[in-house]
Amino acid sequence: MNYLICLLCLMVLATLFGCDLRQSGRIGGETTLAPNEDLQLAPDDALLATDDAMLAAEGLQPALDDAQSLVADSSGTYVLPSPDTSGSVSVEEALQNRRSRRNFQAKALSKEQLSQILWSAYGITEPGRGLRTTPSAGATYPLEIYVIIGNVTDIEAGVYKYNPLNHEITRIKNGDIRSELSAAALRQTMVADAPITVVYAAVFSRIEERYGERGRERYVFMEIGHSAQNVYLQAEALGLGTCAIGAFSDDTVKQLLNLPADEVPLYLLPVGHIAP
Ligand SMILES: Cc1cc2nc3c(=O)[nH]c(=O)nc-3n(C[C@H](O)[C@H](O)[C@H](O)COP(=O)(O)O)c2cc1C
Repeated sequence: MNYLICLLCLMVLATLFGCDLRQSGRIGGETTLAPNEDLQLAPDDALLATDDAMLAAEGLQPALDDAQSLVADSSGTYVLPSPDTSGSVSVEEALQNRRSRRNFQAKALSKEQLSQILWSAYGITEPGRGLRTTPSAGATYPLEIYVIIGNVTDIEAGVYKYNPLNHEITRIKNGDIRSELSAAALRQTMVADAPITVVYAAVFSRIEERYGERGRERYVFMEIGHSAQNVYLQAEALGLGTCAIGAFSDDTVKQLLNLPADEVPLYLLPVGHIAP
């Protein structure tokens, strides 16, 4: 009799756990994830990547309400205002009016303008999967985005690293380095004049691991083009201006920003109020 009761209990337990495992999508190497052709990952990789993105997404900060001021925490991190995704300028207007702007007023950017610019460059648009404003081969995201802040309301001057997952910036160096960065960019004065400069760096190994030479020699540069064009169009839509800069001393920029050994600086985009 006892034996029969035990057997019944075991069968009930097995049925319950079997259901749970299937619901979690982790049984038998199968996954219940929605198919994602872009990622082209093996099922296990897809599961891990999605788990990571979802965990990261849970850390996303809620929108700052108007009453909340922008203050850096002890690590020099500022959570940026949530991006506005309903601007009044059409994509067609921004495309039509886009130009490289090299003359800027000595006028501060607002934290909202800074937020829009960084979001357009690499911001998260689909938190569940960690996807962004910029397409990326296999969603590998090899770019790191820095911003040199010289004149932004309520934010101390310095070199900051953008963290798209939390839409925040963290100071990695104090002080206004715009003149030094301008000197490193063959004395292009727009870098000294603009209130901010977005600096792109790439971690080539991140994309090379999956795509080899093709990733290193093509995909990184294609991706940076997508991202920089977003910044051009976003700047235009905000009534601001920018100019792509490829001419600079790699070593000096790397040293000025204290970049890690595996990060290569590739592009500078000063952004500011266009001078008449
Ligand atoms: C890869 C690349 C590098 C560039 N580097 C510089 C630069 O170092 N300095 C500069 O003033 N403009 C630079 N430009 C901007 C071009 O000069 C500009 O796009 C071109 O004159 C066309 O003008 P438009 O952008 O207004 O249409 C660069 C553009 C690209 C795509």
